[in-house]
Amino acid sequence: MIFYFSGTGNSKHIAEKIANSTGERLVCISENIIAENETYEIEENERIGFVFPVYWYCMPKIVEKFIVQLKLSGYHKQYVYAITTYGLAAGNVMDRLIQTLSNKQVQVKGIFGVQMVDNYVVGYNIINVDKQRTILKNAEVETTKIMTMIERRENIEYIKKGRIRFVTPITGYAYRKAKHTKKFFATSECNSCKKCERSCPCNTIQMMDGKPVWVGECTFCLKCINGCKQSAIQYGKSTKKRDRYQYKKKTNTVMGRFSANRYNVPFV
Ligand SMILES: Cc1cc2nc3c(=O)[nH]c(=O)nc-3n(C[C@H](O)[C@H](O)[C@H](O)COP(=O)(O)O)c2cc1C
Repeated sequence: MIFYFSGTGNSKHIAEKIANSTGERLVCISENIIAENETYEIEENERIGFVFPVYWYCMPKIVEKFIVQLKLSGYHKQYVYAITTYGLAAGNVMDRLIQTLSNKQVQVKGIFGVQMVDNYVVGYNIINVDKQRTILKNAEVETTKIMTMIERRENIEYIKKGRIRFVTPITGYAYRKAKHTKKFFATSECNSCKKCERSCPCNTIQMMDGKPVWVGECTFCLKCINGCKQSAIQYGKSTKKRDRYQYKKKTNTVMGRFSANRYNVPFV
């Protein structure tokens, strides 16, 4: 069984790729977070995987919430692994996951990281199309290697942590405490399509007078801002001239107006 969370599609792609190859069941965390009383039945020889992006060297709040409430039946030391996708470096993202799962007597044996395109548009611009292609091609190669290690149920740590990984507890604390929704707004280019409201994994977005507003808990996945076809969603003043990113495998559709980066990158 593979539990996954993804804002802009990178982690979803990796989870699906593994599921397609191993035949494992896929569980989307954001769709299942509401089903608090769900118990997941684990079979005798089944592997249990977690796939999610790195947020400030930490796991997304929604993933942590899901794991805290996760109930597994039939677990008796089957192989558990976690894969994170990241832009530059993953820090000590897995520390908290390992701790949270060990509180449930679940032991993580395989730890993996796959570098993909950084979607952190509120901090800096998305890398150009050529670089995206190179990174995503390499991600395919890395994922194939990781799949072999998972199939062999290897007890291994295969992840690029980066030099400043020791700041993880600080960034993690700041991430968990921050109120992320304050700076989001929709411009006059918003055509009230409601895509952001429908696709928000935390149900944070509500339409008011035909425009989205951000209320309540937000995991800061940036799906709304990266996924808006009108580029009508902004975050303070920083994102106006920046490109947007969403993982797409084969399409070549125009995403927005500012540059070639708005074209989804065909990389295979
Ligand atoms: C709020 C936020 C924080 C991020 N922090 C990091 C980070 O600390 N290190 C890193 O390498 N990438 C970071 N990223 C980039 C994502 O981890 C990366 O783009 C990931 O592949 C996105 O996965 P997704 O498409 O499945 O959402 C961050 C992205 C967001 C939205």
